[in-house]
Amino acid sequence: MLKVSAPGKIILSGEHAVVYGKPALLASVDRRIVVSFGNSDNFSEGQDFIYKAVNLLRKNLQVKDVNSSLKIVSDIPVGSGMGSSAALSVALSALFYKKYKKVWDLNLINDMAYQIERIQHGNPSGGDNTVSCFGGFLWFRKKSKRKMLFTQVKPTKKLPKIIIIQSGKPRETTREMVAQIRDFYVHHRREVEKIFNNLESVTKGFLKCLDADFSDISILINENEHLLEALGVVSDKTRFLIRKIKKLGGAAKVSGAGGIKDGSGILIAYHKEPEKLFLFAKSNKLDSFSVILGGKGVKIE
Ligand code: PMV
Repeated sequence: MLKVSAPGKIILSGEHAVVYGKPALLASVDRRIVVSFGNSDNFSEGQDFIYKAVNLLRKNLQVKDVNSSLKIVSDIPVGSGMGSSAALSVALSALFYKKYKKVWDLNLINDMAYQIERIQHGNPSGGDNTVSCFGGFLWFRKKSKRKMLFTQVKPTKKLPKIIIIQSGKPRETTREMVAQIRDFYVHHRREVEKIFNNLESVTKGFLKCLDADFSDISILINENEHLLEALGVVSDKTRFLIRKIKKLGGAAKVSGAGGIKDGSGILIAYHKEPEKLFLFAKSNKLDSFSVILGGKGVKIE
């Protein structure tokens, strides 16, 4: 039976700024969504989204078969900045291309996944679906609505252990957070451009870090978080958690669109003694787990 899987992702640096043409550095994670034709389990990504995605695929790939129900199994947290909807878009696109067109072409799969992402997010950068499709570490830049430039980057050193801490599912959607930044940008263009320029420097710092020594990673994570706070995408509750992590000698940042009314989605956190982060998460009743970065993109299982 044909089964396709695609990974979730984290954004090391560049979220939001990437929508405005700045670079972002993303990495796939070792959590995946698996889709096949068959009866669905309880999968919590919106049914409405799945319905619209399948309709788009049927229309664009001229699929006549209307009886195909889907089985979707995933261990990527939903709606928390870990790229669950992008992984689903990529996996569905690949499944349909493979089954109905007998084609396995990552560029075609990714283009279609981007169109599906647009149903969900309006005007996404395309970074999430691209890293889920190609896997690894991705240096990504959106040039225009149609043109995206990206290259895979291979770290030359062993990466430090990154821990994911769930600060709480945001009440806002990515679409709403992106719209909020648009509003901020329209009204305070110079201020926002300054933040984006600083974010670009931090993103370049992360890129260097993949090739060199990781002693700077805490500094970069802290700087990135500071800039995301200045953009206004981090809730008070999350700021408070991040301050506590810093006091413990660690560093943490929001990864993804963020959230301001309640949780801000997943945090990527680093500590030279990772157990301290797990203990912290446990005592604050927050989910936490470690991730392996840079694994394979979409594949047939
Ligand atoms: O959907 P999320 O939480 O992974 O956020 C995506 C990252 C943004 O830069 C905020 C939006 C985008 O399209 O790149």
